[in-house]
Amino acid sequence: MSLIAIENLSAGYGEIGVLFDVSMRVEAGEVVSIIGANGAGKSSLLKAMSGLIRPTAGTITFNGENITQLPADEIVERGLVHVPEGRRLFSLMTVYENLEMGAFSKHAQKDFKKNLEDVHKLFPRLAERGKQLAGTLSGGEQQMVAIGRGIMSSPKVMMFDEPSLGLAPVLKKDIFAAVKRIAVEYGTTIVLVEQDVMNSLAISDRAYVMEQGQIVIEGTAQELLKDPHIKEAYLGV
Ligand SMILES: Nc1ncnc2c1ncn2[C@@H]1O[C@H](COP(=O)(O)OP(=O)(O)O)[C@@H](O)[C@H]1O
Ligand SMILES: [Mg+2]
Repeated sequence: MSLIAIENLSAGYGEIGVLFDVSMRVEAGEVVSIIGANGAGKSSLLKAMSGLIRPTAGTITFNGENITQLPADEIVERGLVHVPEGRRLFSLMTVYENLEMGAFSKHAQKDFKKNLEDVHKLFPRLAERGKQLAGTLSGGEQQMVAIGRGIMSSPKVMMFDEPSLGLAPVLKKDIFAAVKRIAVEYGTTIVLVEQDVMNSLAISDRAYVMEQGQIVIEGTAQELLKDPHIKEAYLGV
């Protein structure tokens, strides 16, 4: 049984359809990328999975349970955790307070100490900067807090939306390395949405390509790196 199974999912905003008949699977322990151009529907797919937009058709099964119509907080409670695009921190709260905000579920409260240790091990800078206001951090540091807040929720699956967006190349590398470490060291399953296709395929087992709200290609990261259409459209080679 797949950890996540999405079958024939459609969703949108009001009258406007954005996702059309999307099916995908994620196995426990995998790193799976979703790639595609701006506006393809990648963020909308993550929002549907985390209960932020309501599917109009199809089902999302997580850990054997149909979660298609569950409220967002109950989806987090089950361990499916979304690290949204643009970080979404509380800029007038400290780093530590932002991390605390991730720990609202019962699970997360029980594991608070261990999760905080994990965050500090992954990003030692956040231990040094605990009392700093989040709004005064650099972009890369803010992304670390956003990821750290996700870890504080005791995730089984972390879904990242464009974690490297807007960061300098050296910081991008750090973020991809951190995502990989979360998978390898904690066994967390990863769904990674990125426009940096080369770096995301490099840390992924498999990937799905979205165009205009549909899955058009799926394969192992190795297969996609060799695919002529992917090379031309997404890798620029
Ligand atoms: N809040 C919204 N209201 C209406 N349309 C939206 C909203 N968010 C995204 N869309 C539309 O949904 C489509 C897919 O967007 P999105 O999921 O953000 O794509 P991606 O993350 O791949 O760039 C786009 O046409 C976008 O304009
Ligand atoms: Mg997006």
